[in-house]
Amino acid sequence: METALVCSTRKGCGISMKKKEKNYDKKTEKEIEKLLKKLTLDEKISMIHGATLFKSGAVNRLGIPEIVTSDGPMGVRAEFMDDRWIPLDNKDDMVSYLPSNSALASSWNPDLAYAIGHVLGEEARGRGKDVILAPGINIKRDPRCGRNFEYMSEDPKLTAAMAVPFIKGVQENDVAACVKHFAANVQETDRLMVDEEIDDRTLYELYLPAFKAAVQEGNVYSVMGAYNKINGTHCCENKKLLDFILRMEWGFDGAVISDWGGVHKTKEAAQCSMDLEMSVFPDFEEYYLAKPLKDAIAKGEVSEDMVDAKVRNLLRMMLRLKMIGNRKDTRKAGAYNTIAHREAALHTARESMVLLKNENHTLPLDAKKIKKLVVIGANAAKLHSDGGGSAEIKALYEICPLAGLKMYLGGNTRVEYVKGYYVPENPKTFEQNWQAASLDDLKDTNVGQVVKAQDGNESEGLRKTEEERLARIEKEQEEIHEKNQKLFAQAVEAAKDADAVIFVGGLNHNIDSEGFDRIDMKLPYEQDILIEELLKVRKDTILTFVGGSPVEMPWRDKARAILWSYYAGMETGNAFAEIIFGEVNPSAKLAETFPARYEDCATAKNGQFGTWGKIRLEEGLYCGYRHFDRQHIAPAFCFGHGLSYTQFEYSALTLKAEKGKNVKLTFTVKNTGKRAGAEIAQVYIAPIAPKEDRPDKELKTFTKVFLTPGRSKKISLLLKQEDFAYFDVQLHDFIADAGDYEILVGASCEDIRLRGIATLV
Ligand code: BGC
Repeated sequence: METALVCSTRKGCGISMKKKEKNYDKKTEKEIEKLLKKLTLDEKISMIHGATLFKSGAVNRLGIPEIVTSDGPMGVRAEFMDDRWIPLDNKDDMVSYLPSNSALASSWNPDLAYAIGHVLGEEARGRGKDVILAPGINIKRDPRCGRNFEYMSEDPKLTAAMAVPFIKGVQENDVAACVKHFAANVQETDRLMVDEEIDDRTLYELYLPAFKAAVQEGNVYSVMGAYNKINGTHCCENKKLLDFILRMEWGFDGAVISDWGGVHKTKEAAQCSMDLEMSVFPDFEEYYLAKPLKDAIAKGEVSEDMVDAKVRNLLRMMLRLKMIGNRKDTRKAGAYNTIAHREAALHTARESMVLLKNENHTLPLDAKKIKKLVVIGANAAKLHSDGGGSAEIKALYEICPLAGLKMYLGGNTRVEYVKGYYVPENPKTFEQNWQAASLDDLKDTNVGQVVKAQDGNESEGLRKTEEERLARIEKEQEEIHEKNQKLFAQAVEAAKDADAVIFVGGLNHNIDSEGFDRIDMKLPYEQDILIEELLKVRKDTILTFVGGSPVEMPWRDKARAILWSYYAGMETGNAFAEIIFGEVNPSAKLAETFPARYEDCATAKNGQFGTWGKIRLEEGLYCGYRHFDRQHIAPAFCFGHGLSYTQFEYSALTLKAEKGKNVKLTFTVKNTGKRAGAEIAQVYIAPIAPKEDRPDKELKTFTKVFLTPGRSKKISLLLKQEDFAYFDVQLHDFIADAGDYEILVGASCEDIRLRGIATLV
């Protein structure tokens, strides 16, 4: 076994805190002070709260424009009225529909994260935006979280590795990324009021690292404060989170923007580093940081200095974006819907679809041999871009899997489509103005008018909405069951005499959505029953899915081929067809565990997910594969799993201590199959006999290698001292203990191919 020795610096190594020096440039700061002196208190206050639903107040007298924000992670959202959640019926706000963060993360390709970030930034600027409310980088704690499709992974390292280039790509367009939702926004149930009890170690090791990387490595210009509370205090009023961790420990000098309606108290929000209050209500002067703040200052309860601090942070962001100052004329103009943007979307979609299973080389199909193809399932013909909550967009176009297949095959193949199962019509929970309704108490959504809930009553409206949703789902079951009888029979019949059968099922944004969590981890609309029936008549049915979060697959042992696609953007159908017919070799891997049953999850066991009022993150670090490892539970498909049409061989691991602190590892990956393909090689560290409780293994680095048949590549990666460390709560620092650490190199978290040992002395 390969070994390497490195020196440990247990005491005072200061691995974690490594405070980033504020890179204030003196000229910028001088400019800020100059402007600040000229601003009246009223003007300053107008700058730190929403003046419309998506803009802050401008000070025209001094040439300070409004800050124009827009959602979101999958593309630039359509335009709304200034004071109502009513979309304008514009024909010029259609945009590129980009792969969701969950799709992007499955590519494990930071270059694509950069490319997609660049497209998003360029489109945002092209649409005249200053801040794009993306990426979503919360850790996926439970597969039922409604917004998981917007997030990247259950693992902080992978999330950070994708978030940093994404942010850089956005911001080089003179648009600010706004990483969200800071922090630990892990559920939608009771999202405005839920209080999360989290211990420091879990916070620092699991829920914060991606945000820290966004700040320190990505130089992100803005951060969105989350809705939830952490240990009793709302994130947007949380001094520990915003002042101590974000500003002091990490050296963040950009702007903190509240989630829409995330502020609940004037004094508290004024007195911590929350710079811009946004909300969903049209009474902008009544926002906590508007008139109530002015009154509080008049009464001497809040000092004007607090307002100045916020304005400084906003002006600094505006100067960086060249919105003001003498570089204004050099600000990039952006562009939207360019050919290059579509190409980036296609390329990413191709690398985002995960081949979960492929027995007997069922895939790829040989297009030439197929005279009749039967496609079954609602998601074959479903467009998803206009749903999901604030991530919804008005796509320029979206190619569904069925269209992709037909476009690929052309006219000589008969493609027969049957829906297969019934999906109730438009069962949207929050109708047109869902966003306002998703927060309000008293509502009249017909005119888009919403009224703020009274203090202490914030959850009431949401509880009612949730009760209605659950009742509706229950009612729909009967309808679904009844209608399915005919549809199932049709599908089974059609499958019998086809040359190939492709089932395209999964979820949609009535299930994967902001505002509520999934009720279970099952495929909806009785898809499991249909799949079982199809497999009875056609063992070779190709099972494919589009969805934003894992589902149980009770029939998976019987299936030969399973392909999973997250919401993969406007080019979904093209990428899908190319993979099915082997023109593209799949190269994605799961960025999250697919449990066999929901009951296997840590949160299902401790019951601390999806409840109202308070949740305790009892499982600590043990979520996702960390939990499955520790409990020795086999998931359906593990973290990091994903197949290719070719095979890869790993060999020749070497470990070498470098500069007494780092471990350099090298190994070789060879493409031993017949097709060109890409492999994602993952490196985990497993402490042997640790003094403190540590997860069995944790992902520390990875690389994606592209290899033509027969070729091999020597890979060289670096493990840093901090990769061996854990967060010592007493010392309040990351510590790497002396001892032995197993270095595991694998094709997934379970498929470990090479092992070595690094010893810290
Ligand atoms: C969401 C944010 C979004 C904001 C603005 C909120 O409901 O949580 O992610 O950016 O609305 O639309």
